Amino acid sequence: MINFKYTGGLVNEEEYQKKIDETRTYVAKAEQDAFGGWVNLPIDYDKEEFARIKEAAKKINDNSDYLVCIGIGGSYLGHRAVIEALGGEKSRTKILYAGNSLSTRSLQRIIAEVGDADFSVNVISKSGTTTEPAVAFRVFKKMLVDKYGEEEAAKRIFATTDAAKGALHDEAVAKGYESFVVPDNIGGRYSVLTAVGLLAIAVAGINIDALMDGAAEERAALISDGGLAAEYAAMRNMLLDKDYNIEILANFEPQFMYFNEWWKQLFGESEGKDHKGIYPASVIDSTDLHSMGQYIQQGRRNLFETFVEVRDEYAGITVPEAVDDLDGLKYLEGRELDYINKTANAATREAHTSGGVPVLEIVLPTVDERSLGALIYFFEMSCALSGFTLGVNPFDQPGVEAYKTRMFELLGKPGYEK
Ligand code: PA5
Repeated sequence: MINFKYTGGLVNEEEYQKKIDETRTYVAKAEQDAFGGWVNLPIDYDKEEFARIKEAAKKINDNSDYLVCIGIGGSYLGHRAVIEALGGEKSRTKILYAGNSLSTRSLQRIIAEVGDADFSVNVISKSGTTTEPAVAFRVFKKMLVDKYGEEEAAKRIFATTDAAKGALHDEAVAKGYESFVVPDNIGGRYSVLTAVGLLAIAVAGINIDALMDGAAEERAALISDGGLAAEYAAMRNMLLDKDYNIEILANFEPQFMYFNEWWKQLFGESEGKDHKGIYPASVIDSTDLHSMGQYIQQGRRNLFETFVEVRDEYAGITVPEAVDDLDGLKYLEGRELDYINKTANAATREAHTSGGVPVLEIVLPTVDERSLGALIYFFEMSCALSGFTLGVNPFDQPGVEAYKTRMFELLGKPGYEK
């Protein structure tokens, strides 16, 4: 469910309807795009590979205390978002994330955490040549070979990459790693429901059938005319036309921190080009009300907020009774913490609305595999429709190359000499 009633009458109803009608026409354009493979993915995926993913996950659960997932950007954020949003690993195998920076300190921490434990590696790179994961893969490959020998190391490496080309593909064939495919017609940031995300999610003990079912249900709701995704995409563009050029994704569940990161990449990389776009930011409240709350309430009025709210009540911790009332909390005794959190959410929405921040609200019935699958698909569709409405290609990322080219020049990579 999505609620637009807190946009404070900023948007002219007739213009908004026109914008929605325009946005709806882009569903077919997304589906027909060479990178539109994600549109029908929830009902049209490789079942044989899906079964292999489950088998590989079982094998990893049987022989590994850790799975080191090596990847960056779209080859990393989606599975971390899902695993964290669902409260972390349910299996005995802990997932670690490497190759998403070039930081020595960060890599050392991961190596130290693995220590002497048994581990496997899932190296994920569509191009197979991205520097961050390639360097980390070298490090963990050496650790595997030193610990288990060449033959066993190869059995503990799972490569997710292009079906036919690239350095990682070629190495996987040469060394006999079990491989999974990043489909040609799906870009990194739209790939969480492919093997890119599914292997780690399955290793974490999360039900990938339910995740896909949730996405398929959402697809059914959006595929004919974009449904609520078209309305959200249209509203974003209407607000942008009125100079609201920053969108803050806000929610009250710290477990959604990486979901926010995934969302930022999805919208930032899809829309931020040709000197256009809405800058995607995020907060986790009520935590960030004590850091960013001041700015949101009273700072420059060029931002709008999209709250992702979880509807169901999550009982478990109540405010304990106390004989005295030294902390002044008597009025909350016996109250569920979740009730207080949801009240903070409602209060924040009202405060920000009255402070001149247009607020959109996306309501999740609950947090489980199905609802997350649906939410992922909803945002993917919204992002594609919004990008087309904005007048950009939501499936390319030409700007990402600029830093790489300069870094390769500075590092002296062959072929990049000045
Ligand atoms: O969304 C994207 O396309 C990017 O974020 C890529 O996923 C990221 O740059 C990693 O690329 P690769 O999977 O080729 O290593």
